[in-house]
Amino acid sequence: MKKGLFITFEGADGSGKTTQLNLVKSFLEQQNYDVVVTREPGALEFGRKIREILLHGKEVICDNAEMFLFLADRAQHIESLIKPSISAGKIVLCDRHVDSTIAYQGYGRGQNIELLKSLNKIAVNSIVPDLTLLFDVSTEISFQRLGNEKDRMESAGIGFHKKVAEGYLQLQKSEPERIKLINANNSIETVYNDTKRVILNLLQERQGE
Ligand code: TMP
Repeated sequence: MKKGLFITFEGADGSGKTTQLNLVKSFLEQQNYDVVVTREPGALEFGRKIREILLHGKEVICDNAEMFLFLADRAQHIESLIKPSISAGKIVLCDRHVDSTIAYQGYGRGQNIELLKSLNKIAVNSIVPDLTLLFDVSTEISFQRLGNEKDRMESAGIGFHKKVAEGYLQLQKSEPERIKLINANNSIETVYNDTKRVILNLLQERQGE
């Protein structure tokens, strides 16, 4: 494989996307692919500080500051890790990326979606995921999975999280080629089988190119 692949994992808090990402990582490594696992926010030292402020800070953060912090993390992440890894022929598995900003800051917080798309474009500097897996889970189930220990974003309330979930579905409808919907209400094993099927399709397509 000459050029690498960029696969993003999206979905509500408590959707199980991180568990699936780790299963996919093991599967791809068994197939001898060179895999890089990363996440937003907070993959690198720069982003870890931003993540701490966003998820565990005690100060009230206004919506615009929140938006710019997620975008700043992304811009740095793209340049320092994602772009070089793809250029080196690796498969990058990223836990959250541009669609999180549209779902959470756009649909959730009510920021202008077209503006967010433009800002995302600046942050990613022409890098677009080859595939995005959207783990769709009912808000009731995801809230049960989260339990009582919630971070700042998770504590935003069920109304906010329902808007986020609806936003993700709108995004999937608008870009069905890139964003593949996975029913994450099912058991880990069933979700993994569905996930693996989509990944294998992508790898087969790539081999045929
Ligand atoms: P997670 O890494 O545990 O999924 O937590 C990250 C949190 O940050 C999650 O609640 C989603 C939120 N988030 C946004 O609101 N906007 C973004 O652009 C990103 C990347 C994450």
